[in-house]
Amino acid sequence: MNSEQIISKLNWLYSLELSQVDLYLAQSRQIPDLYVKQTLKRVAEIEQGHVENVREKITQLGGKPTVIGEAIAPFSGKAAGYFTSKGGVKTLLTANIKLEEMAMKDYKDFILKVGQDESLFNLLWDNLIDEDLHTAWFVNKVKELE
Ligand SMILES: [Fe+2]
Ligand SMILES: [Fe+2]
Repeated sequence: MNSEQIISKLNWLYSLELSQVDLYLAQSRQIPDLYVKQTLKRVAEIEQGHVENVREKITQLGGKPTVIGEAIAPFSGKAAGYFTSKGGVKTLLTANIKLEEMAMKDYKDFILKVGQDESLFNLLWDNLIDEDLHTAWFVNKVKELE
């Protein structure tokens, strides 16, 4: 990948991460279950860390952090849908799992193509593993609610 392609892919992730922050904060505010509420708040903070490390990398590479509409589209629909539905926590967490899996796939694909930049390689791995841990928690909670 050339640096232009890398910046564009980073902007995609930047947009995705920003959406995750908004989504999890909004969910955290609306969910009465205290443990789930606090977890989502904490997960949102971790996503905020991703926003910042990706933004920093874009700037470092000479790019401009830019929100890509296409990347955030799945979030607005899903977030709005689940708040008005009566599906409850389980439905919401199941949707979160899908979003986390999407993010993980993007990180994995990117890692395979990234080439020589070791700090970028490490950044992508760190974020990927965080997403994997979020997914594991969500999956476990969904099982508990079954
Ligand atoms: Fe993230
Ligand atoms: Fe995540």
